[in-house]
Amino acid sequence: MRSPHIGVFDSGFGGLTVLRALLGHIPHACYTFLGDTARLPYGSKSRRTIAHYASQAAQFLVEKQGAEYLVIACNTASALALDSIQQAVPVPVLGVVEPGAEAARAASKTGDVLVIATAATVQSHAYATACREQGLRALEKACPLLVPLVEEGWTEHPVTRQVIDVYLSELRAEAQAEGLQYDALVLGCTHYPLIRSLLEQAVTPGVRVIDSAEATAEAAMRLFGQDGEARPSTAQVRCFATDSVEKFERLGSRFLGRPTGKVELVDLDG
Ligand code: DGL
Repeated sequence: MRSPHIGVFDSGFGGLTVLRALLGHIPHACYTFLGDTARLPYGSKSRRTIAHYASQAAQFLVEKQGAEYLVIACNTASALALDSIQQAVPVPVLGVVEPGAEAARAASKTGDVLVIATAATVQSHAYATACREQGLRALEKACPLLVPLVEEGWTEHPVTRQVIDVYLSELRAEAQAEGLQYDALVLGCTHYPLIRSLLEQAVTPGVRVIDSAEATAEAAMRLFGQDGEARPSTAQVRCFATDSVEKFERLGSRFLGRPTGKVELVDLDG
């Protein structure tokens, strides 16, 4: 089978967790990853700005790099700009929200789930809508302090643990007030898988933590016509960032689970 060229986009390097899952499922593809680190965070910006930035990034991957398929690993861009991206490029585009909701449906027995995400993602209610389409009730909560803590590399820091405890206790109280019998917590942000173990320790026992990366990689196989047959890994990965190439190389390997290789700097306005 020929190697497909898959472009993967995130506002930063958190989306490398999605690339990692893609490498496991489609190991013979060529990957070009773009992290828009100069303009991160997207999660505190307006829909218009996010759509503009994400469309520029998609055009870079398709028009300049020749990607034949796109995976939008960024939850915020998937939630607020998937339509704009699809209009901006002539290739199949997959976001992470719907696969995340499908994974939640597969995990939840009660039909009630919690979702944590950036402020923009929560305001869009994209997860609540996608979950409703899966027959689930979802309660969403913005956790804006978690992205900077992960960016700082504080993935096991006591401060991060405390912040998680505050957010989750507020969420529990809201869920109780609404009578939700939740049994799953969806990680609706690229950065949260890096603090997964802290989140797992903080949730009520019996609540499953759901990460959309695996579900997205499975959806990519279906949408991009890959047969899922086990193949040796011949993947090639090329990474671009719009800022802080050294930081991307240093921290990115944690998200990717292997070295990122030399990261190239790109100016999307240039
Ligand atoms: N990539 C974003 C997301 O998954 C998190 C970082 C940001 O706010 O840009 O929502």
